Amino acid sequence: MALGLIDRYRDRLSLEPGDPVVTLNEGSTPLIEAPRLSERIEARAYFKFEGLNPTGSFKDRGMTVAVSRAKGRGAEAIICASTGNTAASCAAYAARAGMRGAVIVPEGKIAIGKLAQALMHGARVVALQGNFDDALRIVRELSQKHPIELVNSVNPHRIEGQKTAAFEVVEDLGAAPGALAIPVGNAGNVTAYWRGFQEVDAAPILYGFQAEGAAPLVRGEPVANPETVASAIRIGNPARWEEAMAAFTASRGRVAAVSDEQILNAYRWLADNEGVFCEPASAASVAGLLAHGLPVVEGAARPETVVCVLTGHGLKDPDTALSKAPAVINCDNDLSAVERAVFD
Ligand code: F0G
Repeated sequence: MALGLIDRYRDRLSLEPGDPVVTLNEGSTPLIEAPRLSERIEARAYFKFEGLNPTGSFKDRGMTVAVSRAKGRGAEAIICASTGNTAASCAAYAARAGMRGAVIVPEGKIAIGKLAQALMHGARVVALQGNFDDALRIVRELSQKHPIELVNSVNPHRIEGQKTAAFEVVEDLGAAPGALAIPVGNAGNVTAYWRGFQEVDAAPILYGFQAEGAAPLVRGEPVANPETVASAIRIGNPARWEEAMAAFTASRGRVAAVSDEQILNAYRWLADNEGVFCEPASAASVAGLLAHGLPVVEGAARPETVVCVLTGHGLKDPDTALSKAPAVINCDNDLSAVERAVFD
C-alpha cells in the first residue's frame, strides 16, 4: 500500500514527535513521460502529475503536514484563503482530522469542482467580495485574533510537506532533472521545490511561469487587479516573493509570463496529445516552455531533461474545459445515424 508522505519522510519534515498523522495517503504521484512535448522542446520531458493527489492538487502535500502539526498543537479549527485547490484540500483534511474548516474564496471566481469538494467536506465556505490577495490579508488577521490555524502556504509546515515532491522527482529519475517548469501564484510551491532539491543536493534550473495579467514577479511590482483565465494563479502580490526570486536566481533560472491564449492552447494540447488533463494554471508550465523554450544563462549547459509540474487536475473546472472543447454530437436512436455521427 502506498504510504502518505509523512510516513515516507517524517525524519525530514517539521513535525514534533508526538504529532498525530492526518493523512489521505497523498504524494507518490506519477512522473509521466511526455513524448510529444519532448519532440516539441527537443529535450526529454516529464510531467509530475500532482492532479492525482487525493483532492486533485499538490496542496495535499502541504496540508497533511500543516494539519498534523495543528492537531498536535491542539488546534480545533483551520482556515485558509483560496482560489480553489487550497480550499478543497483544507476542507478534506479538516474533515479527516475531526476539526472545523473555514475557507474564504473570491466571490464568483471559484471553480465548480472545488466548491463542491469544500462544501461536501463540511467546511464553512465564505465568498468574499474581493480577490485572493484581499482574502489572504483577512485570514492572516483573523488567525492572529482567534484560535484558528492558518493553513495557507505562509504556514511553514505547508512548504515542508510540498518539498517532498522534489524528493520524489529525484528518486524517480534516479538523478536531478536538468530543469523544472512550474506555474507560480503565491510562490509557495516553487519555494518548496527549491528547498526539497537543495536538501537532496540537486539544483535544476527553475523556470517559473505566471499569467500575463497576473505577473507581479515578472513586472517587479504587485498587480492590483490580477486577471487571467487560470484562476489558481490569479494572484497579484505573492506571499513568498523574495524566496521565489532567490530560488530563480540561485538555480540560474527565471520567471516569465504567458498569455491566456498560450495557457489555453497548452491546456487543450496536453489533453488531446499527451492524454493528461490538468487545469489551466497547471498548463502554464507547458505553455511557458513552448513559448520561451529552454533559456540558459551564459556558461550553463542546455538541460537534457525537464520536469513540468502539473499542479492540479482538469476536473476542477469542467466549465472552462467545456467552453474550449469540441461540441457533443447529438444523434437519432438509429444505427445509420450513429454510423454517420461516428465515422463522417
Ligand atoms: N497551480 C495550482 C493548480 C494552484 O492551485 C496554485 C495555487 C498554483 C499552481 C500556484 O502555487 O501559489 O504555491 O505559487 N493555488 C492557491 C489556492 C492559491 O488557493 O488553491 P503557489
